[in-house]
Order: sequence, then C-alpha cells, then structure tokens
Amino acid sequence: MDFFPDDLQKYVEGHTSAEPELLKKITRDTNAKVMMPRMLSGHVQGRFLSMISHFIKPQNILEVGTYTGYSAICLAEGLNLGGKLVTIDVNEELESRVRGYFQEAGLTEKIDYRIGDAANIIPTLDRIFDLVFIDADKENYSKYYDLVFDKVRAGGVILADNVLWSGKVTKPKPDKDTRALLEFNQKVMNDPRVENLLLPIRDGIMMIRKI
Ligand SMILES: C[S@@+](CC[C@H](N)C(=O)[O-])C[C@H]1O[C@@H](n2cnc3c(N)ncnc32)[C@H](O)[C@@H]1O
Repeated sequence: MDFFPDDLQKYVEGHTSAEPELLKKITRDTNAKVMMPRMLSGHVQGRFLSMISHFIKPQNILEVGTYTGYSAICLAEGLNLGGKLVTIDVNEELESRVRGYFQEAGLTEKIDYRIGDAANIIPTLDRIFDLVFIDADKENYSKYYDLVFDKVRAGGVILADNVLWSGKVTKPKPDKDTRALLEFNQKVMNDPRVENLLLPIRDGIMMIRKI
C-alpha cells in the first residue's frame, strides 16, 4: 500500500531493523496466494509492534484480526516468559496456513488462535491484557474498544490500526467505514480514562494508554 512516496518508504525501511526471514516469507505468500494482501502490517509497522511489545514485556496480549498471522508474530516477540497472545479472526479459510506459520515461528504454545466473531469471543476471555491490537472490521472498532476496555490493566496499551483510512478521514462525504473510524477516533479523544497519540505510521495507528 503506498502511504509514502517509494523513495521515502525505501529510506524508512532501510533505517529500520531488518524484517525477520519468516515474516518476509509470510509477506511473499500472502501477496501470492491470499486475497487483499495489503491488509498485512508489513516491515515497518511490524517492527513498531515488536518494539512496543518489547517495551511493555506483556504477560497477556490480545489481537483482534489475525489475517495471515504477521502482526501476531511481531507482537509475540516481546512476550514475557510464560506470556500468551490471544488472536481472533472470523476467517476460517486461513486457519491451516496461519497455524503453520505459528508453528514455524515456534509460537504454538504461546499463541491462542481463536476462529470466530471477535464480538462474541472477547466477552468470554477471562484475563487482563497488557497490550491489545485492534485490526479487524473497521465498523466495529468502537464496539471492540468498549468490549476490551475493562480487560486492560491500568497503564496497559491499546493500539488501533488504519485510523487514517488512506487519508479518507479528512475528506468530505465519508463512507460507512470512514464514518466508523471518525467516530472511533473522536470517542478515544473524548475518553477521560485514557491518554492517546495518533501515530502517522503506515495507515495511522491510534496508541492509547489506559490511565
Ligand atoms: C486488516 S486484517 C488483519 C491484519 C493483521 N493484523 C496483520 O497486520 O497482519 C483484518 C482481519 O480482521 C478479520 N475480521 C473481520 N471481521 C472480523 C470479526 N467480526 N471478528 C474477527 N475478525 C474479523 C478479517 O477476517 C481479517 O483477516
């Protein structure tokens, strides 16, 4: 996805830690064999997710929107000893591919991969999360935020991807997904329980710290 001009993107990638080989393979496979490959986080955003996770050293991570597993593997890199990542996706067609990647990454024991609608699964999760990554259907971002909020520890971090929606958030006549993202961004902005920072990384990441 072209969020930056090519030369600037190459410069950013050239001055960011290298993308691990398995993640390069997942990117190649996803581009060759999976629908909508631009949904994958990619090199720079992946290294950002890994770095944030290393900073937090989470015991519990929740990801909403697994897709081909790229961001889950990045987030899991920073897990504390004995830590777990729960990742949810409604698309069962990708399950065997994704389980294969988690196995190759040596993460089978650390990743709890659930297939189903996140709105049904999140309420059943009986743990407190240090880090949450929301990256599923845009129209339900506000719902996912509400569902996860009480399951995030004080000081914990929620990241929400694609909050700039290719710049559509500043354009007139927003479509349904854009309206949902505008509402989500404003909801976070108005929430006195959090501190937030909209990071212009790739398609925009809303970084939220629960006070
Ligand atoms: C943008 S992709 C996730 C990309 C992934 N996080 C990454 O960076 O590599 C969004 C995913 O959300 C999933 N999804 C959409 N609606 C969902 C729902 N209601 N519950 C769970 N997952 C959903 C889609 O199947 C898709 O795989």
